[in-house]
Amino acid sequence: MSLAKFGNITNFEEKACFVKKFFLELYQGEIELFRSPSKHYRTRAEFSFYHYNDKLDYAMFDPKNKKKFIVKDIDFPDKKICDFMPILLEKIKANLNLKEKLFGVEFLATKQDLSATLLYHKDVELIYSDLSKLSSNLNCNLIARSKKKKIVFKNENLTQKLQIQNKEMLYEFNNDCFIQPNTFINEKMITWVNENLALQNKKDLLELYCGYGNFTLALANNFRKVLATEISKNNINFALKNCKLNNITNIDFVRLSSEELSSALKKERKFFRLKNLNLDHFDFSHTLVDPPRAGLDKSVIDVIKKYDNIIYISCNPISLKENLKILDQTHKISKMAIFDQFVNTPHLECGVFLTKK
Ligand SMILES: C[S@@+](CC[C@H](N)C(=O)[O-])C[C@H]1O[C@@H](n2cnc3c(N)ncnc32)[C@H](O)[C@@H]1O
Repeated sequence: MSLAKFGNITNFEEKACFVKKFFLELYQGEIELFRSPSKHYRTRAEFSFYHYNDKLDYAMFDPKNKKKFIVKDIDFPDKKICDFMPILLEKIKANLNLKEKLFGVEFLATKQDLSATLLYHKDVELIYSDLSKLSSNLNCNLIARSKKKKIVFKNENLTQKLQIQNKEMLYEFNNDCFIQPNTFINEKMITWVNENLALQNKKDLLELYCGYGNFTLALANNFRKVLATEISKNNINFALKNCKLNNITNIDFVRLSSEELSSALKKERKFFRLKNLNLDHFDFSHTLVDPPRAGLDKSVIDVIKKYDNIIYISCNPISLKENLKILDQTHKISKMAIFDQFVNTPHLECGVFLTKK
């Protein structure tokens, strides 16, 4: 089956059917399906602007005919974003300083909060007072950016509350963090991992690509100790903060790329960032990976295949399959799920539990 064919499917039932066949040579068991609501599912939404005559509208880019089109009455972003978009547009249209050289906006919504980041092709400090007035008239976090400049009005951080089984987890992050784009599906993914972990023997967890602790915090009480790593300093700073917010004391968050972590575990290189940790004191029964679309490289696969249990969360079935073919030499897939994280697009999220053969 070709990558091109997979790229055409957007309906979830058809995507699920395709994925079952796609992974059949590696896994013949049941695949659990998690559907998303069909409206207001997107946590983050980005738009450009269409300036014509004296008018202004939200716009999106159509990659097929390489043209912008005006966006009206859309229902895929979070309801808070949809309700807020016309209010913001009217206020910008009424002020020439705010309107001129505005080329984009990024919205981010949690269950509680909303932020809007305005993107300008001019120095945002020149319109500071207009932006400040706009911010005081709006019920959201407002951020304005231009080349090398960022002004934050109110607060840049958003809070999120996730319901994971009978527990409410608290998170804080900002627009620069990696954020799972569908909150409903995010809760389902973490819950699915948690429920399946409940059935297994557990010691310590090694997590790679941990972000701001989205999975880490909710899974930590399954384990004696957790070592969670990630490349972005911003994500790690929020992960450390989120640990305190939830009163969790058994996680060590360390800023390390997956490549750095593998050389630290192989004792090829010493890291100052690991000076307070003795890696030999961990007894990893599980490893959790949630890599970017490219999947895992050979050095990371060499690290994770040492452990008895691997949990692999993937936003790209193609790289997932490539990686699973290698892991198939040492591990067997015991559970698999498909999550409709990216509704009405060819993309989808997979979750896989593997155990050592
Ligand atoms: C798909 S996201 C998953 C984040 C997190 N698990 C979550 O659910 O929010 C992948 C994460 O990997 C991080 N990342 C990208 N390349 C990396 C690398 N080479 N080593 C470690 N982390 C990396 C990104 O910063 C991002 O936070």
